[in-house]
Amino acid sequence: MELKQEIIRILEENRGKSISGTQMAKELYVTRSAIWKNIKQLQNEGYHIEAVPNRGYLLSESNDILTVESISPYLKGKAKDFILDVRKTVTSTNTLAKEMATKGAPAGSVLIASKQTEGRGRMGRSFYSPDSTGLYFSIILRPNLSLDDSLLITTSAAVAVAKAIEKLTGNHVGIKWVNDIFMRDKKVCGILTEASLNLENGGLEYAVVGIGINVSTKDFPDDIQEVGGSIFSKKPDDKPITSILAAQILNNLAQAMDKLTDLDYLKEYKKRSFLIGQDILVLRGNESLHARAIDIDERARLIVEYPNGDRDALISGEVSIRAKTN
Ligand code: BTN
Repeated sequence: MELKQEIIRILEENRGKSISGTQMAKELYVTRSAIWKNIKQLQNEGYHIEAVPNRGYLLSESNDILTVESISPYLKGKAKDFILDVRKTVTSTNTLAKEMATKGAPAGSVLIASKQTEGRGRMGRSFYSPDSTGLYFSIILRPNLSLDDSLLITTSAAVAVAKAIEKLTGNHVGIKWVNDIFMRDKKVCGILTEASLNLENGGLEYAVVGIGINVSTKDFPDDIQEVGGSIFSKKPDDKPITSILAAQILNNLAQAMDKLTDLDYLKEYKKRSFLIGQDILVLRGNESLHARAIDIDERARLIVEYPNGDRDALISGEVSIRAKTN
């Protein structure tokens, strides 16, 4: 491990308490001046490290930079076995996770970033992923499921995220089928699941579930300004909130992914789903069809009814709520 990483580890282990440069130097077999130089670099990178006279260095409770060390203490149960890779800036965690999966990375590999330069959304759209105000990550799964059942992965991920956001913020969230999460009528999270098929048995080779959450993003680009929102208007500064959010989602995912087909989570999904009963537009290529959202079935498909009474079970695609006209 690089010296800087080791210093972060020690500071994280002592978060909120000061630790002397001498003690760190001794533990890491380096000089005090090497510690000092690295602390300066970390401060320049934005770490909230205070130099306490005669006491040493202290990582402040408000420090919210994502690192393996800041997330790990909050992991529980099977999520502790996840393999975390935390980076500052990447193109897209989904793109990189798919490459990792193709090269054989095991289920439970998680790639997390503070910023994405080419964040991707559904339907070929981009996902706005500015530095340090959001949580962007992808997890590799290798579930024993057919392509038809891959909707279960996305929807149970949506429940895992919804529950974590609700716990941390105390606010209720709504899910717009398939996997957009809304708070106070604003989209605060999007999920992009991409899968590779095993052509021999028709099952999934791997699935990459990418989750993007606006934690405290304020200035959205013009095209998403109306719809985009964040889970906090002001981020709490007494704890590493983004790390805690990441860990809680991973804890929920670890539990959920074990029981994808027992469908209990679907009750939680439907409870938060705000499309049911609404007049919607089903977008298919260039066509948009009027319909009413009737239900979400046991395979997480959206059941819609068209004006002529025909029903359809949607497995993917785009729906939008129809504006009420008088
Ligand atoms: C959507 O709203 O259409 C889905 C957005 C998914 C964004 C996440 S951010 C982490 C992961 N990496 C990506 O490039 N996209 C997903």
